[in-house]
Amino acid sequence: MVVFGIGEILLIIFIVIYYWRLNKNKPMMKWPVFGMLPSIFYNMSNNHDHINSVLKQNGGTFIFEGPWLTNMKIVYTSDPMNVQHITSTKFENYGKGKNFREIFEPLGEGIFRSDFDAWKYNRTLLHSVFKQENFKVFFYKTTEKKIDSCLLLFLDNACKKGLQVDLQDVFRRLTFDNTCSVVLGFDPKCLSIELPKATWESAFSQGIKTIFYRHYKPRFLWKLQKWLQIGEEKKYTENQKILDQALYEKIESKRKIQGQQQFDVINALMNEMKDGKDPIDDKFLKDTTINLLAAGTDTISSGLTWFLWLVATHPFVEAKILEEIKENLPSREGNWKCLGIEGINKLVYLHAALCESLRLYPPVPFEHKSSLKPDVLPSGHKIKSNTMIVYSLYSIGRVEEIWGEDCLEFKPERWISKKGEIIHVPSYKFIAFNAGPRSCLGKEMSFIEMKMIIVAILLNYHIHVVEGQVVKPSISLILHMKHGLKVMVKKISI
Ligand code: HEM
Repeated sequence: MVVFGIGEILLIIFIVIYYWRLNKNKPMMKWPVFGMLPSIFYNMSNNHDHINSVLKQNGGTFIFEGPWLTNMKIVYTSDPMNVQHITSTKFENYGKGKNFREIFEPLGEGIFRSDFDAWKYNRTLLHSVFKQENFKVFFYKTTEKKIDSCLLLFLDNACKKGLQVDLQDVFRRLTFDNTCSVVLGFDPKCLSIELPKATWESAFSQGIKTIFYRHYKPRFLWKLQKWLQIGEEKKYTENQKILDQALYEKIESKRKIQGQQQFDVINALMNEMKDGKDPIDDKFLKDTTINLLAAGTDTISSGLTWFLWLVATHPFVEAKILEEIKENLPSREGNWKCLGIEGINKLVYLHAALCESLRLYPPVPFEHKSSLKPDVLPSGHKIKSNTMIVYSLYSIGRVEEIWGEDCLEFKPERWISKKGEIIHVPSYKFIAFNAGPRSCLGKEMSFIEMKMIIVAILLNYHIHVVEGQVVKPSISLILHMKHGLKVMVKKISI
């Protein structure tokens, strides 16, 4: 057994104090043996702001060094020129990489986990469905029905009974139901007055949680847990079985009545061919469903939660949004549905407020890529092959050189030109939907869905944020609120 004498203990204390004094003013301290890992763990509870201040102090790019002998180096950046280089100019050199594929295994062979030809195939296929006119109509009608028959009923009930509502939970249930309806033509009804235990939603969410834990655990540890079937990995396997089985059953029953049904994404894909010859198999359809659930559920619910919090705490913005909606309603008595898609698209101030909220609180707070060949970034940083690069979407929305000194303030006006039109900001600066060939395929859809939900809520209710709660981001793949968003809703009439 190794026993430390008083001399060794004093020496260790001396080294710790020496390093601490040397680095105490640096937001990312580098320790002997452990590298910068202790700094990350110490600041974990405000990870995004911590990384943001480190990036700011280092001119927008810094290299994270892990423990000795692990060869762990990650390039973090929020420099828009680097982001444009990685996502667009040198797109072919930066893929998701092997590490990403391992960690994101719950997403199967869908678009998020694929690179090169497999990605191109996935993207072309989904794009061919999303651009169809009948898909757009189906998406609009489905969302309208869900808002009317579930969301408004739920909020009316909360008003009548004076109940406190966790808006984040409501939005997660709503967007999960809506995405399932659009993708599978099936509504699991997670959002209803009784707030039922959402079996499907929680089985799906477990996969996303497991992906997150795999980011922070040493690879050998989560692999061992997976092999031994213990802890988080055991929960994942159990839940994945439930989800896979439910999805295979749905797909099988859809196959039986193929061709006689209404439009939905899986029906549309069943009519497509794989590689131009064979019909698409059930495993691919199941993986695509999981990817679209991942794409369209938590992103929209996170975007909506931060937006309504910002609006409820900025009454001037709320009043301007309401004024604009009322001006565009065809009659004074008209309800939110009268606006239609054309009316929704005319709401410039609402669009500006949404962009502003997505800038400050991007639902996907960071992205990672891996280099194929050595390269040099525009910032001058040298990149070896197989280097992990993380660009922080959260920090890019807070870069003073792009957004000005008031970059931390919520100001929808910054998005509106003197002529009253939306100012176009290139996607490597307004990065919430990613940039380059891998930018979000659901951007247009997301704006429509979020605007419909916001208009329906703001025209019918006043949202009062319950005082005394701590509103801060959770540490997860998606920028949720750590403690949810507790509100009281009061019915209003226009
Ligand atoms: C506020 C809502 C949304 C935000 C902020 C958002 C953001 C993003 C981001 C950052 C990416 C890049 C992810 C990556 O490469 O790892 C992405 C990709 C993607 N998004 Fe969205 N998304 C939203 C909603 C949606 C919706 C509703 C759909 C459709 C159901 C969708 C479909 C996709 C798809 C298919 C990709 C993969 C693109 C590719 O790899 O080529 N997204 N999105």
